[in-house]
Amino acid sequence: MEMKDEDIRSIRDGVHSGILSRTAFSYRSIKSLKFTPQLLAIYQSTLPLHEIFPILPTMAFPSPVKTFRDDTYPSINPTLSQLSTKGKNIVISGGGSGIGPGIARSFAKSGATSISILGRTQKSLLQTKEALSKDYPNTKIYTYVADITEKSTLDTTFQAVKSTVGSVDVLIANAGYMPDLHSIAASNAVNWWAGFEINVRGAFNLISSFVPVASKNASIINISTAVAHMPYAPGVSGYAVSKLARTRVFDYAAHEYPEFFVLSVHPGVIETAMNAKAVAAGMNYPHDTSK
Ligand SMILES: NC(=O)c1ccc[n+]([C@@H]2O[C@H](COP(=O)([O-])OP(=O)(O)OC[C@H]3O[C@@H](n4cnc5c(N)ncnc54)[C@H](OP(=O)(O)O)[C@@H]3O)[C@@H](O)[C@H]2O)c1
Repeated sequence: MEMKDEDIRSIRDGVHSGILSRTAFSYRSIKSLKFTPQLLAIYQSTLPLHEIFPILPTMAFPSPVKTFRDDTYPSINPTLSQLSTKGKNIVISGGGSGIGPGIARSFAKSGATSISILGRTQKSLLQTKEALSKDYPNTKIYTYVADITEKSTLDTTFQAVKSTVGSVDVLIANAGYMPDLHSIAASNAVNWWAGFEINVRGAFNLISSFVPVASKNASIINISTAVAHMPYAPGVSGYAVSKLARTRVFDYAAHEYPEFFVLSVHPGVIETAMNAKAVAAGMNYPHDTSK
């Protein structure tokens, strides 16, 4: 149902007079209304940031799927024989900390032959390697200290992966950065642009270094974010805009390399250092599981 002028007026009046609380704005009460930029603009003009965030997650936004999941469900269980990655070589950027180790663990569960994890911090890479090697001794884990913003480092890294394990079957472009959460004018330009350096330039570097060592019919998975598709979320312009641009880089890869399977996927809301930064700024969406 589209919002009528009187609906908009009554919401605005309600917010101004303080009658409408978070509960009144709950998904149940507004689910028959379309989540429009117009409605959001009203929130924005009437509520302080810390009051907008708790409301946003309860609101519907355009979704490509009918069912929202917050955990691994049976048909994507990595131990299913039809999902086996036995014989496959995997590379995961950001594999030492955050979501990356969980992705690596799922590939190890599905029997991957090798998993090469990339990141800037040797300590976390080695910790992840130790934990996975102990639990999945049949999967070889390799670590590479590499900054994805440095093209020459990535070229060397992917060539080293190829010399060690052979062609790469799956690239998980997972490493990412969320600039500090502020409005545009309140943001530090260098910090804001770091979103583009890591999320966009990093994606370009990963794909272009991966292609020469990729196996035929390889897969490239971009860890995207739902934020890139939301009409607005306060303070995250640097993150949302760079992640959206990054997704287009993978769209282009899909066209340029039709022999590859290329997919961008939102990983859910997972408790990590990045998520803690968002929560500290008041962006507290319900968490999904990470195992
Ligand atoms: N957590 C969430 O709720 C959530 C939701 C939607 C999307 N995502 C996406 O999921 C991905 C992972 O996020 P996360 O929550 O795990 O973030 P995180 O906790 O900040 O971890 C980021 C990972 O990327 C690595 N990394 C960052 N910059 C790098 C660089 N320049 N070169 C190489 N590695 C780099 C980090 O390792 P080093 O610092 O050691 O390099 C770390 O392993 C990101 O693309 C993010 O946008 C996360």
